Amino acid sequence: MQTEINEIKRLIRDIPDFPEKGVIFKDITPLLKNPRVFRISLDKISDLIDEWDFDCIVSPESRGFIFAAPLAYKMEKEFVPVRKPGKLPYKTYSISYELEYGKSTLEMHVDAIDKGEKVIIVDDVLATGGTTKAIIELVEKAGGIVVGVACLAELTYLNPRQTLTNFEIASVIKY
Ligand code: PRP
Ligand code: MG
Repeated sequence: MQTEINEIKRLIRDIPDFPEKGVIFKDITPLLKNPRVFRISLDKISDLIDEWDFDCIVSPESRGFIFAAPLAYKMEKEFVPVRKPGKLPYKTYSISYELEYGKSTLEMHVDAIDKGEKVIIVDDVLATGGTTKAIIELVEKAGGIVVGVACLAELTYLNPRQTLTNFEIASVIKY
């Protein structure tokens, strides 16, 4: 429903020039303070991916976890955390990538995904698509198959779909 989409939109705040000049940061903390609309936003993501065939949700810290973990609970799927360097205790696959602002590295446990397992990637915001592309590489290194990508908000003006050709993408809100 359009009004629900507007309710979600109203609770995502634009912070200009954060974390650096020229970047408009999408701040989801007001949304998280509203239990009803937070719940609606999770339900909207799960509605979009309800027909997708997958067993596992892979998601990056920190903000990705906020949406991915409750979705895994709701949809009764596995949850696999992708983390910043040095946080995971067991052997990891590691990947470095370009962010809209700066550079970063992400890691995932080598045994997190079974060979041939179907997974989706969930994050809060899809901006350049760089984070998601890096996670796709991690999943494929582990032998998993990425079925699709789901997020709350997609920044279409940064063209994430150009980076993520060949993948189904579901987003609740497009800017
Ligand atoms: C933000 C956001 C996404 C990513 C999107 O995370 O939560 O994960 O950037 O950008 P991209 O599509 O250009 O890669 P960030 O790296 O700022 O870290 P955080 O989630 O820990 O705050
Ligand atoms: Mg993030």
